[in-house]
Amino acid sequence: MMNALAVQLNEKMQKESPAIYDMLSDLGKNLYYPKGILSQSAEAGKKAHRFNATIGIATENGEPMHFRHIQEKLGYAPKDIYPYAAPQGKELLRSIWKEKLLADNPSMQNKSIGLPIITSALTHGLSIAADLFMNPGDVLITPEQYWGNYNTVFQIRRGGRVETFPLFNENGGFHVDAFRETLEKQKEKAIVLLNFPNNPTGFTPSIEDANAIVQVIKDVAASGTKLVVLLDDAYFGLFYEDSIRESLFGLLADIHPNILPVKIDGATKENYVWGLRVGFITYAADPDVLDALEQKTKGIIRGTISSGSHISQTILLESLQSEEYLKEKEEKFQIMQGRAVKTKQVLANEKYAPFWTYYPFNSGYFMCLKLNDIDAEELRLHLLDKYGVGVIASNKTDIRVAFSCVEENDIEELFDLIYEGCQDLSK
Ligand SMILES: Cc1ncc(COP(=O)(O)O)c(C=O)c1O
Repeated sequence: MMNALAVQLNEKMQKESPAIYDMLSDLGKNLYYPKGILSQSAEAGKKAHRFNATIGIATENGEPMHFRHIQEKLGYAPKDIYPYAAPQGKELLRSIWKEKLLADNPSMQNKSIGLPIITSALTHGLSIAADLFMNPGDVLITPEQYWGNYNTVFQIRRGGRVETFPLFNENGGFHVDAFRETLEKQKEKAIVLLNFPNNPTGFTPSIEDANAIVQVIKDVAASGTKLVVLLDDAYFGLFYEDSIRESLFGLLADIHPNILPVKIDGATKENYVWGLRVGFITYAADPDVLDALEQKTKGIIRGTISSGSHISQTILLESLQSEEYLKEKEEKFQIMQGRAVKTKQVLANEKYAPFWTYYPFNSGYFMCLKLNDIDAEELRLHLLDKYGVGVIASNKTDIRVAFSCVEENDIEELFDLIYEGCQDLSK
């Protein structure tokens, strides 16, 4: 039997936004945030001024108990390191991240958008979305070039079906027509996943194409299909040319009741803290629905990782508040942009033409070569064995190069070695 709290949340959603209720998976419908230890302890945190004997940590001298040999190496206060963070994360970090989102994404302003909920980085955010919205057999629509781990998150784990469409049209722009055709085939419900800057290609659409994408989603929603639209903004901000420079999340918020935009982002790639594991999941919906989605999200977090790393949230919070933050972010942006520009300059060399073309790129960490007739896996292994060069073979024809981890001065040599490898294999 369904828990009474889940029933309450569902009734609220059915009343305020039946379409979004219908988008929930069976697991999503069952989820709620239990009134257990955590909510009793939160109450005690406010009122128990004599003794607070609620939560499962240890204290000593008015502080969380801790080892000196650990604390000696850490520059943060014990209260910001050792106790559990709440399942939804540190409240101040949530509100500061929301301010950052509003500053970076003008279209988000004046829309009904929830407070970001903290995840253990983007993979976790994606898996929360899969848990809440994907039932076995549901379709995930994403471009042909996608991050391979989506298969594990949506297909292996949740039994979804991944359906792809060509990312590029013949002019090197986003293939709006293919996107429309694929989306129009979905009659009841679909989960759409868009990732710009894209992994593996490094592509972000133009403003014009972004508006066309939004129009397709709106048209299909208006025809009656319910669309959960996930925006994987892992590489947000790394825009080097004249693409759109904000997330499609803001453009999709509040435009149709059959659309639920879900923004999945985080510090991982944007702030170069991959191993700290801090990300966010943010919904755009009516306020009552936002509350229900937040309760359900807290429920799944409580039932999986329980809560994220406290020290990682503290490090990110203090970084975002630091006066050095914007300055250093700009410094690193310049380095990344320099590498992208250099990569394009190097690739303009006509000598490469017999072996490869490349997909349009203007953003992010990567670019992709499309090999003319050499097998990508064969080339990858050859480059490793003969030249000590590591690249990713993302399918039979495509080689992904992470210019993000090659110094600008080494980029020409890198592509020349790939070129030599191609020459070897085509002899
Ligand atoms: C497109 C995309 N989304 C999500 C992720 C996962 O990021 P995280 O390390 O924050 O889980 C990656 C990492 O490679 C990625 O490329």
